[in-house]
Amino acid sequence: MRRVAIIGTGMTKFGENWEQSYRDLVVEAGIRAITDAGISGDKIDAGYIGTMASGKLIGQEHVGALIADYMGLNPIPITRVEGACASGSLALREGIMAIASGMKDLVVVGGVEKMTDLSTGEVSDALGGAGDQEWELFMGATFPGLYALMARRHMKDYGTTSEMLAAVAVKNHKHGVHNKYAQYQNEITIDTVLNSKMVADPLHVFDCSPITDGAAGVVLAPMEAAESYTKKPVEIVASGQASDTIALSSRDSMTELKATKIAAEKAYTQARVSPKDIEVAEVHDCFTIAEIMAIEDLGFFRKGEGGKATLEGKTTFGGDVVVNTSGGLKAAGHPVGATGVKQAVELTWQLRGEAEGRRVKVAQVGLSHNVGGSGATAVVHIFKRGY
Ligand SMILES: CC(C)(COP(=O)(O)OP(=O)(O)OC[C@H]1O[C@@H](n2cnc3c(N)ncnc32)[C@H](O)[C@@H]1OP(=O)(O)O)[C@@H](O)C(=O)NCCC(=O)NCCS
Repeated sequence: MRRVAIIGTGMTKFGENWEQSYRDLVVEAGIRAITDAGISGDKIDAGYIGTMASGKLIGQEHVGALIADYMGLNPIPITRVEGACASGSLALREGIMAIASGMKDLVVVGGVEKMTDLSTGEVSDALGGAGDQEWELFMGATFPGLYALMARRHMKDYGTTSEMLAAVAVKNHKHGVHNKYAQYQNEITIDTVLNSKMVADPLHVFDCSPITDGAAGVVLAPMEAAESYTKKPVEIVASGQASDTIALSSRDSMTELKATKIAAEKAYTQARVSPKDIEVAEVHDCFTIAEIMAIEDLGFFRKGEGGKATLEGKTTFGGDVVVNTSGGLKAAGHPVGATGVKQAVELTWQLRGEAEGRRVKVAQVGLSHNVGGSGATAVVHIFKRGY
């Protein structure tokens, strides 16, 4: 297998981008990534696009063809990849496998979602299809509701408190202040979170990621050719994916995501690193409880200690591992299909020393963790400075 490098990155501002359509978002992020790689579009062999619910959200299917057309890339093959909120990381995995296998030499990977044209109720319905439609969504269990159940159980079993949950949001908003692409660039306090309206007890509005428009893109090449494109290649040294039951009620445990643990084990083995080697991580904080479970399941902290570690500052600058320097899904926003690719963009900027105002000094190793639904899909990638 060939080694794989990221040679170009690009993204749009995340937020309520009312003046940009779905296709505008993809074109902006894609052209930025291709320009950053210093290549012309006709050199690309293939593209993969992560998008979760374009049919329900904007009425557009067949987005691979749409993107090839609007990016001016015809007749290059572009393929849509879908795995709920993990669609972006799954598209990245397809790109990695195409380069690693030797089938393709230059691949563009994108992620996109246009969510803010619909009401919150309509978006919740579209997202809810990533759970078990018959036994969860049909019965009224939306994603805030499912993650609230996990939070309650974590509180009962480990003594996790609302303050600990809020500390995740406070930290991620603080990090997001320095990310000009973030949806929210404002600091908040624990009181802001605790006094915000309740969405699904114990999760308040500020415990939730928002509804977001945005796109992100990366260009991949074999590591052996990367230096002919860029002085600062970032190598993707591992890609792990795992599946679990689609319904939360069928799981052995409500306080861990087994798919995350398995995907992480695979990735650590491939990369020959341990959780202690990870200096910077972008993890899936769709709700504050999700980040607490992620930092436990990824092995950064023992089960039950993620909330306390966050409150004690162990997941911010100066701590054990800096988590969600972009602001995470919470503050940078969560355009669902774009999130996994945005995580790769942020980690590339960290490892290239370009994450202005939020740089983890001399970071060599980073990890991304992207979840689909309530944990039925999990994808973990490990990145290393390649220069
Ligand atoms: C939390 C949620 C229900 C709030 O939606 P809402 O009640 O309709 O909120 P509104 O859109 O009316 O926004 C009201 C205000 O709160 C802000 N806001 C909304 N969601 C926010 C969030 N998650 N964090 C911070 N601020 C938020 C808005 O910017 C707006 O501010 P403004 O009045 O200054 O413009 C919605 O963001 C949501 O469903 N989030 C979860 C998305 C999700 O499930 N993703 C998939 C995860 S698996």
